[in-house]
Amino acid sequence: MEEYILVEKGHPLAGEVQIEGAKNAVLPIMAASLLAKNNTIHLQRVPQLSDVETMAAVLSNLGAKVVRNGQHMHVEVPSILQTQTPEHLVSKMRASVLVMGALLALEGKVSVVLPGGCAIGSRPLDIHLRGFEALGATVQLSHGIIEASVDGRLQGAEFDLAFPSVGATENLMIAASRAEGKTILRGVAKEPEIIDLANFLNAMGAQIHGAGTDTIEIMGVETLTACEYEILPDRIEAGTFMIAAAITQGDVIIKNIIPDHLQPITAKLQQLGAKITIGDDWIGVQGNKDYQAIDIKTGPHPNFPTDMQSPMLAILLCADGVSTLTETIFENRFMHVEELNRMGAQIIVDGRTCIVTKQSLHGVRVKATDLRSAAGLVLAGLLADGETRIEKLYHLDRGYVDFVEKLQKLGAKISRHSS
Ligand code: UD1
Repeated sequence: MEEYILVEKGHPLAGEVQIEGAKNAVLPIMAASLLAKNNTIHLQRVPQLSDVETMAAVLSNLGAKVVRNGQHMHVEVPSILQTQTPEHLVSKMRASVLVMGALLALEGKVSVVLPGGCAIGSRPLDIHLRGFEALGATVQLSHGIIEASVDGRLQGAEFDLAFPSVGATENLMIAASRAEGKTILRGVAKEPEIIDLANFLNAMGAQIHGAGTDTIEIMGVETLTACEYEILPDRIEAGTFMIAAAITQGDVIIKNIIPDHLQPITAKLQQLGAKITIGDDWIGVQGNKDYQAIDIKTGPHPNFPTDMQSPMLAILLCADGVSTLTETIFENRFMHVEELNRMGAQIIVDGRTCIVTKQSLHGVRVKATDLRSAAGLVLAGLLADGETRIEKLYHLDRGYVDFVEKLQKLGAKISRHSS
């Protein structure tokens, strides 16, 4: 059964929208829960996403019991875990590799097949693996299977990341939490989700300092225990709704967020010409009909997030002048440009830069190519004359809870169907 979205240009969006817990925070936190052997972790504000279901299946396959009740989830960890992550789950979602650090630290070995996930570039794991080696593990890669092992406990060490990889920073923080002695990780990622993982690990009894800066220090502990933890709000979902408000010249309040985490997006929307009001845990966006071209370059936090690149491209199509959008994180993240051009956009891709001019769009049948491009195509559909049909919705469901329902509530002419 193929599902699709139909969307039309309509009234400006208006009203309030509530934001869920962050996908990119809950996945590493679920993986880190494995460190609580013989204990139960309680997580609050867990978003109902297919990626969360996939991570729950990964944990279940390793021997944990995962029970979910609305936005609450508990993870019961047994005394012995399996150390092989099933291929069909890892090939579905790259974040499955985040269980490596915990399994290596607890069981002394782990094996995973090379991962899948969104097809947005080569996305190697070299930094994760070099980091495990620095902590004393032996790593072998053959026939697409990674095997890592260590005699006894991992040993605290100093390690410089060649690039501030989010996943590698997380995997190494998890592993080092249970290593013997002190670990110093330099050149780490500084995303808010890294701070959330550190806060979660510390709530389990870890001793992590410096998350959110370039250097993280971890004093290893022998056991980590039960805790209760609430996942931070999803800044990418929030940013997507900010653009939806701006693109329809609407007036929307985005609630239950940490406005500071949205600063790079807020700054670009203001520069474009939208009016932004910032509250304690909300942001108001009022659109404008005269947007001016801007230049955007993605980069590690606090730069403009790569996950907002596709949604942002849609709004650049209604700005006067020539905008540029340069992608520096993933080399293959412009696959949706072809779909936008089929809708009438005349975006030129020059290496890692998109050159964008104002165009009127028309609704056609388009296919999502990855999670964030799915959202970008829906936003473009809100701009296009006629009806846009968006297919391959399993991409969207990986990262957005009730996206269609939330847009409907704000007044969008959008519906979801299956055939
Ligand atoms: C995470 C996010 C994803 C986001 C990305 C960048 C999750 C579940 N996913 O993905 O939504 O787009 O951060 O903000 O949190 N790299 C290497 N070697 C490595 C690891 C990474 O070269 O060992 C490269 C990748 O190929 C890529 C870049 O580093 O070009 C960024 O990757 P990374 O930060 O690791 O992204 P993910 O953790 O996979």
